[in-house]
Amino acid sequence: MQRIELRGRSYAFHDVGQGVPLLLFHGFPFTSKSFWPQLDEPPTGFRLIAPDHRGFGGSVLDGDGPSTMEAFAEDGSALLDALGIQSAVVGGVSMGGYVALAFARLAASKVRGLVLIDTQATADDEAGKARREAVAQDVLQNGLAGLTSSMLPKLLSAKAPQAVRSKVEAMMLLQSPRAVAAASRGMGARPDSRDQLSRFALPTLVVVGAEDPITPVEKARQMAELVKGSQLVVIPDAAHLPNLEQPETFKAALEAFAAAVR
Ligand code: MLT
Repeated sequence: MQRIELRGRSYAFHDVGQGVPLLLFHGFPFTSKSFWPQLDEPPTGFRLIAPDHRGFGGSVLDGDGPSTMEAFAEDGSALLDALGIQSAVVGGVSMGGYVALAFARLAASKVRGLVLIDTQATADDEAGKARREAVAQDVLQNGLAGLTSSMLPKLLSAKAPQAVRSKVEAMMLLQSPRAVAAASRGMGARPDSRDQLSRFALPTLVVVGAEDPITPVEKARQMAELVKGSQLVVIPDAAHLPNLEQPETFKAALEAFAAAVR
């Protein structure tokens, strides 16, 4: 793990492998370590850069307001500048996908392509926004235990190895309630990205676990249909985190995409 200073704040990231830069954002409420199989064995053809969002893992939170998807994206963009990287394929899992979409809005000239994993282009409806606020208040008052036990069964399929389940659970329980509340509020404020995707003309890979109950295959299909020429890969025997449940299939999908982007 490496660190840079962003406006006086420490920002942590992994930088592994060689090839086209792939800036990959993690989901909620995790850290870049949720890409552990990819960090251990980077996909051929990509230099994988995986930061911790502000407040998560080794990155320091900025202020008390919501952590918007744009704020997370700006940090990622500043990281590319600090590393002297002019453009990258930008992607993310779930909330990380919302961040990748925000990145493409804010810094289009730095984007060589998108990788959208178990995520969605639609915004939250009013009930969804209210749930984000309820999650924020719950974690601030009670810590991460309630959120962890309600999310865990949806993150991994029934077939996921116990070792993976335990690692995912432990990572969630370790996160700071303030950062998790700020990210939950930030997700509730994200815009609809369907128009943006329908205008996007660069290589795009959409990946989804066949058994994902949070952002189901239908959501992935909708995104893939919006982007002309995109590829959709549905990974069997995986739920919301196919990079952890089926790392080999996930790696193969990324490697085929790396060849297409090059
Ligand atoms: C995630 O995995 O990042 C979250 O489930 C995304 C969300 O709640 O919309």
